[in-house]
Parts: sequence; structure tokens; C-alpha cells
Amino acid sequence: MNWSVKRIWTICKSMNKKKKGAAAIVMVAAVTFATGIFYTREVKTTQTAQTTSEKQTTEERAEETVSAKKIGICIYRYDDDFMKLITKELKNSFIENYGIEANDIFTFYAEEDLEKQQEQVEKLMERGVCGLIIQAVEEAKIPALADQCAEKQIPVVFINSEPTEEEKQRWSEEKIAASWVGTDGRQAGAYQGQLILESPEHGDFNGDGMVSYVMIQGDLDAEDTKNRTEYSVKTLTDQGIRVQKLTEVSGNWEESRGKELTEQALKRYGRRVEVIICNNDAMANGASEAIQEAGRVVGKDICLVGVDGLRSTVTAVRDGNVTGTVLNDYHGQAKKAAEVLMKLVDGEHVDTEYLIDHVKISGNGQ
Ligand code: GAL
Repeated sequence: MNWSVKRIWTICKSMNKKKKGAAAIVMVAAVTFATGIFYTREVKTTQTAQTTSEKQTTEERAEETVSAKKIGICIYRYDDDFMKLITKELKNSFIENYGIEANDIFTFYAEEDLEKQQEQVEKLMERGVCGLIIQAVEEAKIPALADQCAEKQIPVVFINSEPTEEEKQRWSEEKIAASWVGTDGRQAGAYQGQLILESPEHGDFNGDGMVSYVMIQGDLDAEDTKNRTEYSVKTLTDQGIRVQKLTEVSGNWEESRGKELTEQALKRYGRRVEVIICNNDAMANGASEAIQEAGRVVGKDICLVGVDGLRSTVTAVRDGNVTGTVLNDYHGQAKKAAEVLMKLVDGEHVDTEYLIDHVKISGNGQ
């Protein structure tokens, strides 16, 4: 799938308006719900002589109130623009689609500390959450987190960080109430490769018959990093393009690192740098700043691609400062994750994996 930046922009704008309307509806609903709870409690304490059926109704309603669902969300760190978007969408989805109260959604950030994340999971279970959404600090620790939840019989949906095939198989064999909602990093990488192929001279600006590139990677332990890196380059070589890797370094998904590493690469390799491939948009935004400061011009002598579809990057694509990006559909992922978790909470069967498609965003109207 390939969307022009104009189309994405229009959708972003219209989504905001809708969100405002939805927020107003949620507020009205929250007030109505709160009034209902108050009424239920008041009836129980003031009516002494009630018939059995009246009493039963009151008790049932009181019980309904007590069993209000609480949800826990665990995210690897706070300072990550993409994860902020997905977290916001998750909360919206639980509130708007499942009537969960905002106060009953607890979000914890682990600041990239696995032990801290495990403690947070424990704390949330003690608080009585009926289900958890976890973005694991380390993909290798997903089995331990899944076991931690299974021990207390709390359903869990992992997002973003990817479990292995064996782990998903284990959930199904051992009937662990767990699932994963994420994306295929190979697809994101392939779209980045296509964006480069579609750019002027397919990135071979100096016409030496070779595309010389700099790869700025995310967290080196993440499957997304490996797959996006591999498939962006593979898409070029599969088309018979000769490539030369100048350098490949991790910027840990961070904008400031993206800028620093690009500055270093441009200083060291100068005009030899024709393409900069960033595993995400935050780093691409940093790279874009460094490119402009070095007097280089995207589309004329350099090509720059990212992944995520952050609003700031989509704007930069529109303005010609980034060649293109790939929408990492946070809205779709959040909606699906909330849906799968609520199904698990209701004891329904779910698959162990749900993949949400990426969308290519280029500035050339394709
Ligand atoms: C990726 C996303 C990055 C970063 C990372 C965290 O999917 O593209 O920007 O948020 O997840 O694991």
C-alpha cells in the first residue's frame, strides 16, 4: 500500500476533529456513569425496607460497580514518541470502545529496566487489573513476563516488542492467555527500499553506479531493527542495485542520537553519503536537521527515509526535507490490542499473533 503525504495529512487533520467530538461524548458518558454509581450507592444506604427483588437489583448493581474493569499498560520507557502515540490510542480505545474509566487505566513506564518492569507488572496485578498490555523492555524476557501473568491468571497482550515463534507456540500449547499485536519489520524495510528506488537516480546521486548508504539502527536487540535493516537494503539489491555500506550504528530509536550519528557520518564521509536509512522517524528527524545544517539537500544530493509516520516526519516529507517514511499504524495496533485483551478477559479464544500492515508515505504523490 502506498499513500501520498497529502492523503495522510488530510486523514491526520480529520482524525483530530473526530477525536475532539469523541472526547466530548466520553466526558458526557463519564458524568452519566458517575451519576449512576452515586445513585446506586445512595439507594443502598438509605432504603431499609425493600422487597427481595428490589434488594437483589440494588446488590447486583452495586456488584457491577465494584467489578469495574481495571487495565494495566506497561511501556519500556516514557521518552519515545512512537510509543506515546500508541499508548494514547490504547487508552482511547479502552475508554471509547469498552467503557473503561480513564481512572481505571494504569500506565507504567520502565525506563528500560527489566526488573523495574517486572515489579510494575506485579504491582498492577496487586491493584486488581483484569488484563495487561505489555511492551517488553527486552524481547528475550517475554517468556518470563508471560509466565508472571499466567501464574496469577491475568491475560496479557504483548505489543511492539516481538516474541519468538516458539514462545507463541508455547502460549497455545500451554493454554496461556497471551497474544501479540505488532507489525512485520520486513514489510517496513521493504517499503523503505522502495522509497529509495523511487527517489531521483534511485539514490545514486553521484552516478558512480553504486548507492553508498549510512544505516542508523534502533535498539540492537529488537527484531524490528534486524528486519528493517535487512529488508531495506535487500529491496535495493534484489533490483540489481549495487550498494556500499559506509557505516551501520545504533541510535537506540532516539532523535538526538540520529542527529549526532548523521553529523559524524557526514563529517567523515562527506559527499560519499548518498542515502541515510533510519530504522525510525525520531532518528530520521534528527538526521534531517544534521543534513540541513551540513548544507546538503534531500532529493538533490541525498535521500533520507524513516519508519513510523510521526506527524513531524510526515510534515518534513511534505516539505521535502525527508524523502519518505512508512506508517507504523499505531491506531490500528492499539485498537486491535485492546480488542484482543478484552476478548481474553472474557475468556474467548484469540490467535497468538495479529499483524497490522504498514503504509508507505512518499512525497511524490504515489
Ligand atoms: C518501533 C518504532 C520505534 C520505537 C520502537 C520501540 O516499532 O518504530 O520508533 O518506538 O518501536 O520498541
